[in-house]
Amino acid sequence: MSRPRTSQTQRGLQAVLTSTFLLVGPTHLTAGPAQDAVIAALAAEAGVSGFSAQTGKAFFQASHSGGKPETPSCTTCHTSDPLAAGRTRVGKPIEPMAVSLSPNRFTDPEKLAKWFRRNCNSVLGRECTTTEQGDVLTYLSSL
Ligand code: HEC
Repeated sequence: MSRPRTSQTQRGLQAVLTSTFLLVGPTHLTAGPAQDAVIAALAAEAGVSGFSAQTGKAFFQASHSGGKPETPSCTTCHTSDPLAAGRTRVGKPIEPMAVSLSPNRFTDPEKLAKWFRRNCNSVLGRECTTTEQGDVLTYLSSL
């Protein structure tokens, strides 16, 4: 009786699944599959194997120039604590950014693109790069 041999394709698939797991697995433990998929898509677009939560944190917490003077930082509205609720310029509450508290965060690509465009233009006077987006989402999905 001969044992079935692992085919080339199966081995290829295993390699892809393993590397996908390594890419999105240990970096953001609180994220669910939807956030993982969004981050993996950004990584593919940027042509990188993963993002840095630390770089994302620095970017999110920093004061930037180039945008509107009244919104120098992501923390202007989201506060410096992603576990806390934020506030818009007109005082409307914003749910915490941390995925552990707001599990639906970053699961709707259209919403994500819309707000990245708007917020990055307010804060930086330009759109955020794919890498900046990936780093920020990796950071916020790890909390
Ligand atoms: C002028 C206020 C303001 C500033 C400044 C701001 N945001 Fe936001 N942001 C909002 C609002 C309002 C929403 C939409 C409401 C919500 O998602 O709860 C939002 C939503 C988002 C979302 C989408 C969240 C999701 O659930 O998909 C991301 C990502 C985001 N912001 C990132 C950033 C980053 C990164 C910066 C800094 C470059 C930033 N924001 C600066 C107000 C702001």
